[in-house]
Amino acid sequence: QRLPELLKTMPKAELHIHIEGSLEPELIFALAKRNGVALAYADVEALRRAYAFTDLQSFLDIYYAGASVLLKEEDFYDMASAYFVKAAEDNVVHAELFFDPQTHTARGVAMQTVIDGLHRACVDAQKIHGISASLILCFLRHLSEEDALVCLEQALPFRDKLVGIGLDSGELGNPPEKFERVFARCAQLGLRLVAHAGEEGPPAYIWAALDVLKVERIDHGVQAIKDPALMQRLAEQRTALTVCPLSNLKLCVFPDLASHNLRELLDTGLMATINSDDPAYFGGYMNDNFVQTFAATGMHAGHAYSLARNSFEASFIDDAAKLKFV
Ligand code: ADE
Ligand code: ZN
Repeated sequence: QRLPELLKTMPKAELHIHIEGSLEPELIFALAKRNGVALAYADVEALRRAYAFTDLQSFLDIYYAGASVLLKEEDFYDMASAYFVKAAEDNVVHAELFFDPQTHTARGVAMQTVIDGLHRACVDAQKIHGISASLILCFLRHLSEEDALVCLEQALPFRDKLVGIGLDSGELGNPPEKFERVFARCAQLGLRLVAHAGEEGPPAYIWAALDVLKVERIDHGVQAIKDPALMQRLAEQRTALTVCPLSNLKLCVFPDLASHNLRELLDTGLMATINSDDPAYFGGYMNDNFVQTFAATGMHAGHAYSLARNSFEASFIDDAAKLKFV
């Protein structure tokens, strides 16, 4: 079998997808019209032209502006449903969706509106596509821990619709230590814990995510390569890294895909996975990430099997159901 065919057809899990980052420009304009929201861009082409990022923050500014069209339960449902169509095409059979409620509640949208719409799309994804899906609520790290605690309070009535908690947004200057108390609270509630660390930030942020926040998975984590002791720890504990190659390329974390360190992470024995992060903004969904990264780095079928197996092993599917995949 040709390698691109294997990459496209093999069943896989996606563990790092910000659902607001799956909003395509066409849907942004359709929702803006439906909701009477004014946009700072004349049309789809003008918006797409603005997708020329230099770093994480330059992307986040446009990403939060795009999310401003989401107001109603149906908007969140339609957004996630569009993602599941793409995921099904790419043979994603399990997905854990990040969402950023604070960017919505700050605009007056109720937590229930956000979670109801996303959850309904997850339930339908199983019925329509056979995709199992769950939700991970992310705190915005550029905001305060007090804000995160308020957000958690608002989400408590919907605890049963969440599998876990994450931490995203601008990393530099917002170390994991800032969220120690709220993550401890989430652990007590039995929520699974993940955090973005080592995307742009130093290895120290990955150590802190592990030791202070006590997360099970590191989102991105590519900067771990700078710290041999950290690499050894991640390998020994089989801590999963949810790596997002096209995201790293578009946000200038690596100058080109051939320079990406995913292959080195895998060959060093780390439990890395491939994910799309914000596919509508970074030029590709799961299979684009797989095909382009393999072409650029010369990885082979053995790497493909490892990545697929890792994606299920690192998922929050319950252990009995996991046996189906690994
Ligand atoms: N929010 C959406 N995408 C993100 C990323 N790649 N890093 C941090 N926060 C994000
Ligand atoms: Zn991310």
